[in-house]
Amino acid sequence: MEENIEVIFNDFFKYKSGKFYAEEKSVEDIAKRYGTPCYLYSYHSLLSRIKKFKEAFNGVNTLICYSVKANSNISILKIIKEQGMGVDVVSGGELRRALLLNFPPNKIVFAGVGKKDEEIELGVKNHIYCFNIENEDEIDIIEKYARMYRRKVICNLRLNLDIDVDTHHYIKTSKKETKFGLDIHSAGNILRKHRNNKYVEIKGFHLHLGSQLKDTPPYTRALDNVKIFCKENNFSPEIIDLGGGFGIPYSSEDRVKDIEDFGVAIKEKIKEIGGKFLILEPGRYIVGNTSVLLCRVLYVKRRQDKNFVITDAGMNDLVRPAFYGSYHTIIPAKKSRGVKYIKADIVGPICETGDYLGKDIEVPDNIKRGDILIVGSAGAYCFSMASNYNSRPRPCEIMVRGTRDFVIRKREAYKDLWKGEL
Ligand code: LLP
Repeated sequence: MEENIEVIFNDFFKYKSGKFYAEEKSVEDIAKRYGTPCYLYSYHSLLSRIKKFKEAFNGVNTLICYSVKANSNISILKIIKEQGMGVDVVSGGELRRALLLNFPPNKIVFAGVGKKDEEIELGVKNHIYCFNIENEDEIDIIEKYARMYRRKVICNLRLNLDIDVDTHHYIKTSKKETKFGLDIHSAGNILRKHRNNKYVEIKGFHLHLGSQLKDTPPYTRALDNVKIFCKENNFSPEIIDLGGGFGIPYSSEDRVKDIEDFGVAIKEKIKEIGGKFLILEPGRYIVGNTSVLLCRVLYVKRRQDKNFVITDAGMNDLVRPAFYGSYHTIIPAKKSRGVKYIKADIVGPICETGDYLGKDIEVPDNIKRGDILIVGSAGAYCFSMASNYNSRPRPCEIMVRGTRDFVIRKREAYKDLWKGEL
């Protein structure tokens, strides 16, 4: 329990006199005021992550496009926009969020393996910066709308370079058995076929390799392969979009390279290739450790061979442990001194055995109904993957800024559950 939690919770979430705080707010006060489960964000933590990321890529011409899928709350997006970043979108819904917030169109990039015609049209009509292409037919559809709206549309080819990465197999996206990207033969064909296209201009490549990558070699290896591909195809890329994937620690034992190290390695390779413009699409790095999920203990079940702590948050609120077997640090809002710790599974109220937030987590022996638990690293792919399973309204989202707190998403009401049903 005395593990070094700073790496996960950073400077903006910490214990003060035994009570856990988000910036200047005690999380117990927040839980009392807004109820649980509740996602709690720190404004200054978000700003500090953005700053660190930008600094790491200083010195090359870079457009940082935050990956909206990680967390699409419009208050978060507004802060991202105020910090001068763009966005990476993968659906008409995400594009509409970006347009709603008036992101400059030339800072919007559109990726995705299955873009619908209407989504492509929306992007072309709104002059977004570029499309990342995953299919030969996709270019024809883009060309159709480019012709209709009389403009030239920038496209980057998403390459599948068959690169393995060390992460959960569900979030590896660059192995050849995954659905993503173009193999180098199709990419070469597309380059030749569309070299002098009046409506579609291929300016470079897109290479999202996977998510939660902890070290730099996959990026440098991929860029080496791009260099070879360019030579073989006699093509000099203007744009290299390396996607996202930059990992974060979820436990104090997680060893993740600093973002500065990613910056150094990537910048060096980009210069070698002669790429003029680097695009990056970080999601998790920006928001992952800027939020915690607060939940309340409903029951403690002690069995001879196993203990369970049943909380009011379940897999519908935070699915990553159930879906990927991911580890999230879980700690109590109040530190108890001089108590024994026991191991327990922290589980939700959903009728599924896979409904858990943590397994074999150390909790104080005196844990009881009503206590607040904090689930760490809950900013990325947590609310954005939440559902209404078991007819449970999704939690509220609160942002703390110094001594003030703001609702950035209301808790869903029961009537929201059947809205639209006939
Ligand atoms: N760009 C593209 C094209 C992507 O597909 C993704 C994430 C990103 C950027 C951002 O990647 P990041 O920097 O966040 O690693 N739900 C999973 C993660 C899925 C990632 C999907 N693509 C999880 O909870 O771990």
